[in-house]
Amino acid sequence: MQQDLDQFSVTEAVLEQMSKTPDARLKQIMESLVKHAHAFARDVDLKPEEWLAGIAFLTEVGKTCTPSRQETILLSDTLGFSALVNILAANRQQAKSTDPSLLGPFYRAAAPLKQLGETIATKIDAPEIQFYGQVVDADGKGVPHAEITVWQTDAHGYYDMQIHGEDEMDHRAKFITDENGRYHFRSVRPLGYYIPMDGPVGRMINAQLRHGCRPAHTHFLIGAEGYEELVTSLYFGYDQYIGTDTVFGVSKSLIIMPEMDANAPIPGMEAVRYDFTIAPARAGGSGRVGADPSQLVKA
Ligand code: BEZ
Ligand code: FE
Repeated sequence: MQQDLDQFSVTEAVLEQMSKTPDARLKQIMESLVKHAHAFARDVDLKPEEWLAGIAFLTEVGKTCTPSRQETILLSDTLGFSALVNILAANRQQAKSTDPSLLGPFYRAAAPLKQLGETIATKIDAPEIQFYGQVVDADGKGVPHAEITVWQTDAHGYYDMQIHGEDEMDHRAKFITDENGRYHFRSVRPLGYYIPMDGPVGRMINAQLRHGCRPAHTHFLIGAEGYEELVTSLYFGYDQYIGTDTVFGVSKSLIIMPEMDANAPIPGMEAVRYDFTIAPARAGGSGRVGADPSQLVKA
């Protein structure tokens, strides 16, 4: 029989209906979601027209997703939710690794494999810099044959897919570390950029008077047999938005500055030296907060 529900007992009624969920983790997540969502509606005394505006917004967020654009992840990013999930995952790790950062919407699984020392740019139209260092385990021992996927904007602040769509790859590559876990490659200084602002998330950012920018960075995804995948980025310390990233991806430990470095493999070229620490693999879950957008939407 239908009860007379009030603003609190409606929450209990939903929890009661869901109480037989056999999957214990699904039960825990859905119960908490319902409790927090109901508490939020009570907290702001949500009006019907506001609820409808929220539904329309989420509908548009979903419809904006394509095989090359993930507006739902962008929403999560701009609300700090992706950064929070990253922090929680890092807290769960038994061994310390390099701080993670967001995968972002511009990752492509099929980046071209290049030899150590090659450039990730197909055309060099800006001064070059080099990245070098070592992938090490928690004891500081080099991890041989680790796969490093790198991607960044060009020197003008654009990712390849923003210029060429799906058809061409540029400023992205995969490298394999040598016997001692060492890597080096050439690139150009990336530029900071606006997150995609022409959709519903951009409207939200504008409504909140936020600048919508990310500081200049280079993304790294590092994997090796027996290790947890590391998704991170290195952030260029001179960028004006280094302290106010729209998607909350910057940690102090990930801020770098290119400089002349007598120990760098390529003489006479500014260098960024960075050693990445990766942690032993755990059972279950990839630890990756993000995905290639084409894997989330059917073409
Ligand atoms: C990126 O770094 O590619 C990125 C991350 C989150 C939102 C937008 C862009
Ligand atoms: Fe990026």
